[in-house]
Amino acid sequence: MLSRTPPMGFNTWNTFGENISDKVIRETADVMVETGLLDAGYNYLVIDDCWSLRERDPETNKIVPDPVKFPDGMKAVSDYVHSKGLKFGMYSCAGTRTCADYPGSFDHEFLDAKTFAEYGADFLKYDFCYKPQSANGPLLYRKMGMALKACGREILFSACNWGCDEVSTWIRSTGAHMFRSTGDINDNFRSFKDIAMSQIDNLAYSGVGCFNDIDMLICGMYGDGNVANGGCTDEEYKTHFALWCMFSSPLMLGSDLRKLKDQPFILNLIKNKNLIRINQDEESRPAFAVNGVKERITFAKHLSNNEIAIMFANLSDSDGCCELFFDELGVPASSGYGLEMKDCFTNQTMVKKEYFRHFLKAHSCEVYICKLVK
Ligand code: GAL
Repeated sequence: MLSRTPPMGFNTWNTFGENISDKVIRETADVMVETGLLDAGYNYLVIDDCWSLRERDPETNKIVPDPVKFPDGMKAVSDYVHSKGLKFGMYSCAGTRTCADYPGSFDHEFLDAKTFAEYGADFLKYDFCYKPQSANGPLLYRKMGMALKACGREILFSACNWGCDEVSTWIRSTGAHMFRSTGDINDNFRSFKDIAMSQIDNLAYSGVGCFNDIDMLICGMYGDGNVANGGCTDEEYKTHFALWCMFSSPLMLGSDLRKLKDQPFILNLIKNKNLIRINQDEESRPAFAVNGVKERITFAKHLSNNEIAIMFANLSDSDGCCELFFDELGVPASSGYGLEMKDCFTNQTMVKKEYFRHFLKAHSCEVYICKLVK
């Protein structure tokens, strides 16, 4: 089964945009193995937009990989990615052109799905630009869902219509395994905060088999790359990653992974076992906002094995206290129970009764994996 838990991997768009190549993909594949990212669960390497020539082959009608960017063709790239133990992902679009104006799959769905299968693709991101006015959005995703079923390979279907047409309510029925629910992320605090906040009411639509994708990660971009827009501090990247884990979003890395050897903070963060465990919990229960005062919000997420993840997020621009009365979580003082709380960043454990209050700097967070104890 695909997408039993939120898919994890890397996507070229956030950093590389159109500057993708055989070399970039091979080097990224190498780094994903060398840095332990593959072992941590990041197993998809996805090529986003701008990989093809501007027009289809007039004879075969197929999309053609750009021979300058990919001189050995796509199968060779895919074989290399597979040889590293990774899975290979491609990109296309439900409209006539992709967002960066390359051929889209509209009316060529079955041919393109077959072509991606020939490349050995394991993943397809499917965008929504240049949709003919008269075309029905949900039907276009159903079509590609069917084309992938017919293509002879098991391919994870990653829909990307940015939340149009109330996508969370129908996308699961198209066969998609994940779906973008928002516009594009930028590398700054405001962008990831707004994206996360916009999805609080949609989290219950996300679950085993089809996850709400709140976009690729920006951790480690530090203001460089295709979606650069000011950058974030380490503390902000920590809050960003923790939110994505709490919200059961797919975890698609978006920075230049080749720089990770010089970015120990980011490497530790994206490999944090506790946070990844929260994200990958087999029950995939939605997080919920327990309380929130002045953008200091507490999120909770039930986990398997009778555990609960709790995130205190100070998303406001000023330092202040985050607090939680356990009663609000469903644990009244009268029950006699408190929480044993393991800090996901330090692994230290403490026991708290009735309430928790901590001072948090602006834009920072704390995350705990908790158990009920007497
Ligand atoms: C956008 C999409 C981005 C990226 C881009 C490529 O529509 O949301 O994630 O794929 O197109 O042009």
